This record gives sequence, structure tokens and C-alpha cells, in this order.
Amino acid sequence: MPDILIGQTLSFAADPQIAGVSAARHETRGGLLLDSGRIRALGAAEDLVRAHPQARVHDYGQALISAGFIDAHVHYPQTAIIASWGKRLIDWLNTYTFPEEMRLNDPAFARATAESCLDLMLAHGTTTMCSYTTIHPASVDAFFAAAQARGMRALAGKTCMDRNAPEGLRDTAQSAHDDSAALIARWHGVDRLSYVITPRFAPTSSPEQLEALGALWAAHPDCLMQTHLSEQTDEIAWVRRLFPAARDYLDVYESFGLLGRGAVFGHCIHLEPRERARLLEAGAALIHCPTSNTFIGSGLFDMAGLKAEGQRIGLATDIGGGSSFSMLRTMAAAYEVAQLGGTALHPAALWWLATAGSAAALGLGDRIGNLAVGMEADLVVIDLASTPAIAQRAARAESFWEALFPTIMMGDDRAVRAVWVNGAPVARPG
Ligand code: GUN
Ligand code: ZN
Repeated sequence: MPDILIGQTLSFAADPQIAGVSAARHETRGGLLLDSGRIRALGAAEDLVRAHPQARVHDYGQALISAGFIDAHVHYPQTAIIASWGKRLIDWLNTYTFPEEMRLNDPAFARATAESCLDLMLAHGTTTMCSYTTIHPASVDAFFAAAQARGMRALAGKTCMDRNAPEGLRDTAQSAHDDSAALIARWHGVDRLSYVITPRFAPTSSPEQLEALGALWAAHPDCLMQTHLSEQTDEIAWVRRLFPAARDYLDVYESFGLLGRGAVFGHCIHLEPRERARLLEAGAALIHCPTSNTFIGSGLFDMAGLKAEGQRIGLATDIGGGSSFSMLRTMAAAYEVAQLGGTALHPAALWWLATAGSAAALGLGDRIGNLAVGMEADLVVIDLASTPAIAQRAARAESFWEALFPTIMMGDDRAVRAVWVNGAPVARPG
């Protein structure tokens, strides 16, 4: 039986940072008709109800119905070490991250962690995430099985690293290639799952491993490739020492065939002009991880400059370097980081980044991340008065954007009234 969801609705005809705020479409009393996992019609609520009398109606009143949030860069194995104190990137990896990732050698622990992460994400309104895993193939199986059981569109790949990581957390060039190839065969394109070829970052892969993964990508060009790029200055200096022949950090990846339109680079903070030009030319995606970049002390992403150049940009929590599972908190951090650079991002631009922008960065802009006929029905319903502090500010609002902005700046999982995945309501975890 079809469902009709009624509430305020927000959709996009284009990216508001490029096309202007008028590219965002807000309906005060809008409706969505869902059937068999897809959005079949959009319009004024009363018209939809009249045209489809057989549909089940879910009236969310003043709440906002949006495409579900899309988190374009996550490390699900780091779920339990979020908010670990006092380290910068390399120290943080060695002190907190690698010991935790070692524990996913146990498939039961990996399963429990994947389920915990996905349930937390859903509770925060995130319906798709693109995740790193660990070197253990079973950690990929655990993630995909948990996402599949929840009906979610999800992306992930085996994190490959064969050096500069502790014993027990290193694969080899050959095993990284062969295990990744076997996982592509097992999971890529199954249900709503996509495999992403995943060298962790240049410092933890030998040239041989990067070359093997470049060859694997050439053999599977429909997969995305994700890695980290230019996150902290110490890391960049380390890459320069490890790959002295490379022109810059991006050149390391490019020289091994790891640059192209399906490349998704996390962080991209301290880019050289040549790197920016090459990223644009190649059509790669850049993922902004603002809570992580401030939490680990990495630096300030140049949203305005990169956008003005025409770069493709998505938004992400970077759990567990990021300090929140919430894409609302992540939008707030993106706003504050942009303010430090002299730009005030409009609420429409922030919302686009967390939905359609991340979808486009992951090559999924025609399936998820927006409300449009034919799109997959992954939705979040947001209460715009979820706490007393937000409610009293929103009550003063004289426009929709003014009413939305307090939720962007102060909201979290308490604002998530309902989540729909693949056209079905999600029972609230816990
Ligand atoms: N660079 C390499 N690995 C990681 C990671 O797990 N988190 C972050 N933030 N940066 C990284
Ligand atoms: Zn990361």
C-alpha cells in the first residue's frame, strides 16, 4: 500500500551555493507519495491525499521532511572511540585508532560495532554512509550485512595498509588486492550496497600496494576509490619524505592510478594550487569533515574558495575523528569554519551539502539525497522545535530559513522525529 507523508518539505533544483537560494524549494504543507521504496509523487499535501485515497497518511504537522542525511566519510570501526582526548592526527591514530581497529579482528566484535554505528547513524537521521573498515575482510562483511539487514544504501571498502601500522594491522600489496577483489565480487551492486576501493592514506601504503590498488580500480572502474588527502601539516611532510619523487600529496595517488572522477578524498585542507587544479580537472570529490578538522586540530577547509573553483564537495562526520554522529552538528561546524574564513553559508547551502551534495560526491545524486519523483525513499523528518532553546528561537522566526537555522546550529538526534529507509519507517533504535 502506498504511503503519503505530510509536513513541510525541502528539496533542491540545484546547488544553492552555485545557483542561489532560489534553487531550494520549500513547501509549508507539502506531501510525498511513496510506493515500493521510491518517491512517486510530490506536491501540495491535500492534492496528493485527494488523488490517492487508498494511501496510508502520515501527517507530521509542522515537522520538516527532507531527504535523509548522507555522511560521505566515516570510519565505522571507530564508533566506540569517538571523543578521545588530547591527540593530533598521527598520535591519535597510534594511541586510539589502531588499537581499536585491531579488535575488529574478531568478526563478532566487528558485527556488534557495525550494528552500533548504523543504529546511531539512523537515530541521527543519516540514511547513507560511506565507510572505511579495517584491514580484516570480515569487517567489510560485518558492515555490509548490517546495512543490508536495515535496507540501507551504503558504501564501504576494506581499509588497506601494509606499512607504518602495528603488527596485526597490516596486510600486503597482494592480499590487499586479492581480498578487495573478492569483496567486490561478494558485495558490489548487491541490493543497495557499493564497494569502495580504500587505501587508508599514502603513509600506510607501500608504493607496491598503491600500484596494486590502482590496477584493481582500473579493472573495476564503476567502484569509487576513497582515501585521505592533505589533512594535517605533519602528515603532508611525512608523505613528502616517504614519496620524494612526487610533486605533491595528490601526485602520489595520481602516479599510481588513484585519481579520477570516482575518487573521493577526505579532508583536503592544505592543498597546493597544483593539487586544486588537478582535482578539478579530474572531477574528483572533496569531503569536508569540519568537526574532525577542528577536533583533531587539522585546519580550516576553504569551502568558499574551493566552491568558487567548481570543486565537487560533500560533507561528513569522519567518525571517530569527528566529534558527533549528527549531520546537524556537522552543518553547524561547517558554518562556523566558513565564518572563520569570512563566509556565512546559507542554511540552504548547508542542507544541500548534507544531502544532495554528499550524494553527488558519491556519484549517487540521481538516486538519493533529494526529494524528486523516482528517487529512492530515504527520508528524515525533523522537528524544528526539538529543545526549549531551539523552540524559543524558532518561534521568533519570520521566514522558513530563520526557523530552520536554530535547528542546524543547535540540533542533534533529539530533532529526528522519524526516519524512512527504502520507503519504510525505521523503528527507533533503542
Ligand atoms: N588519516 C588516516 N587514517 C585516518 C583516520 O582514521 N581518521 C582521520 N581523521 N584521518 C586519517
Ligand atoms: Zn577519515
